[in-house]
Amino acid sequence: MKFFLDTAEIDDIRELAATGLVDGVTTNPSLILKSGRDYFEVTKEICDLIPGPVSAEVAATDYEGMVAEAAKIYDIAENICLKVPLTIDGLRACKHFSDQGRMVNVTLCFSAAQALLAAKAGASFISPFVGRLDDIGFDGMQLIEDIRMIFDNYEFGTEILVASTRHPIHIIDSARIGADVVTLPPKVLRQLFNHPLTASGLAAFVADWEKTGQSIV
Ligand code: G3P
Repeated sequence: MKFFLDTAEIDDIRELAATGLVDGVTTNPSLILKSGRDYFEVTKEICDLIPGPVSAEVAATDYEGMVAEAAKIYDIAENICLKVPLTIDGLRACKHFSDQGRMVNVTLCFSAAQALLAAKAGASFISPFVGRLDDIGFDGMQLIEDIRMIFDNYEFGTEILVASTRHPIHIIDSARIGADVVTLPPKVLRQLFNHPLTASGLAAFVADWEKTGQSIV
């Protein structure tokens, strides 16, 4: 399973990329706003830090506008993945660019029917938002199971990119189901490393090692 970071914060990306565990990055207009950075500048910096796919979202909501913006967005770097919303215009743009062999991530997916349409439009990634479904009382992970089954039935190449993840359980459930990618806020990736027994076990080993009075190097 691939790990993408769901952020436009360069410091977090740099720090977590050093673990060697980050395969890509996803951004959206809200994350760009939160970063306080210029869209093109920050996206370029992210692309330089992470060799894997970096999703950058269109702002336009009409097909012609998306196509015009895509020309500039794809120009940012080789590893740009254009992010379009799951609308008729967004899927038209997805088909247009996937036919040219470009990477497209279809975002704001909340149903299996929408995921099926994105796969038929040749999306490289479909982004179902599990946390936002949970927020309104639906089972976000059930959607991932449904999409996995549908994509496997027809051998669609579209990768399931689980988005709007809020906690480690979303990540483990995604792995159990066999999702291709999870995009994690930096906080959730850091949480994955932690276990209280690791912390207490390490403290005990460090204390006992000091008592031996030995040194390895
Ligand atoms: O990248 C989009 C998605 O991950 C948004 O997450 O927490 O705003 O629902 P959230």
